[in-house]
Amino acid sequence: MRRRDFLTGAAGLLGAATTSFAARANVPTPFTFDMAPPMGAGDEAKFIEWGVKTRGEDPKFLTERFGRYLAMVRNEDIVDERHKRAFLCTPREKFVLKQNLGRAYDHAFLDIGWGVTISGPHIVGRMTSTINPQKGEKVLEVGTGSGYQSAYLSHLTDQVFTIEIIKPLAERTRATYDDLIKDGYSEFKAIGSKNADGYYGWEEHGPFDKIIVTCGIDHVPPPLLQQLKDGGTMVIPVGPPGAQRVLKVVKTKGADGQVTVARSDIYNGRIVPFVPFTKLEGDVIKGTHNN
Ligand SMILES: C[S@@+](CC[C@H](N)C(=O)[O-])C[C@H]1O[C@@H](n2cnc3c(N)ncnc32)[C@H](O)[C@@H]1O
Repeated sequence: MRRRDFLTGAAGLLGAATTSFAARANVPTPFTFDMAPPMGAGDEAKFIEWGVKTRGEDPKFLTERFGRYLAMVRNEDIVDERHKRAFLCTPREKFVLKQNLGRAYDHAFLDIGWGVTISGPHIVGRMTSTINPQKGEKVLEVGTGSGYQSAYLSHLTDQVFTIEIIKPLAERTRATYDDLIKDGYSEFKAIGSKNADGYYGWEEHGPFDKIIVTCGIDHVPPPLLQQLKDGGTMVIPVGPPGAQRVLKVVKTKGADGQVTVARSDIYNGRIVPFVPFTKLEGDVIKGTHNN
């Protein structure tokens, strides 16, 4: 079965019936960091027209994306223009399972197979805003999953690295990116991906300006902290199984060479459960990295 049959093919499935008010672009206009989707509170119609014309996307999903966007702005999950553009330019519908297409923009995490999930849009927005990647910065994601988080990141910086421990999932997501690149989503060329245990980071591409971890663990992995630049920021769910708190971790080095690590809770103590940060032993996933 081709990945497209399995995953999305959303535009092909639902698009033809719903495009009425603007000619649909055959391929997305290549993304640029100064792309300006309409983003004002009253701009829904303009945004949909823009998305159909320039990105060749389905008005149904564009409408749902804009609705979720407004809720996320109200909730302060996305707070500035760059992050607003990143959310509005990322087609979440291309990263969910076909049976979940109707829920792509729900305020919810969704099953993506192998017992793991695509995180909900609000948490993706909030965690990404926390690390606030700038163009040119190197960002490492641990826990590729569906690929949505890294796709979102590729609208903020042109250097994204992502690691997934489940081999067939890593391969499926790589195929998703490659198909989307062929379809014209050139921004996803910025994403380097690999199948490995992300506990050890990705040394050959480090150090990283920012690190985002999307699986839960009871401590901050020392190799990740080591691969974070001085002055860098990591966001990571830390706590016992199923009861993590999402921490912002900032690493600084004083004039005396002393490294300081400051931690703060991005949800003021709220518990947010994440899928476990599992461990690879040889080729087999066995247990977790919890102490
Ligand atoms: C919440 S899910 C994925 C969310 C993902 N960022 C997305 O946008 O869909 C967390 C992912 O972390 C992966 N994971 C768990 N332990 C890992 C490890 N040691 N190294 C790399 N990935 C890991 C899981 O297999 C799962 O795909």
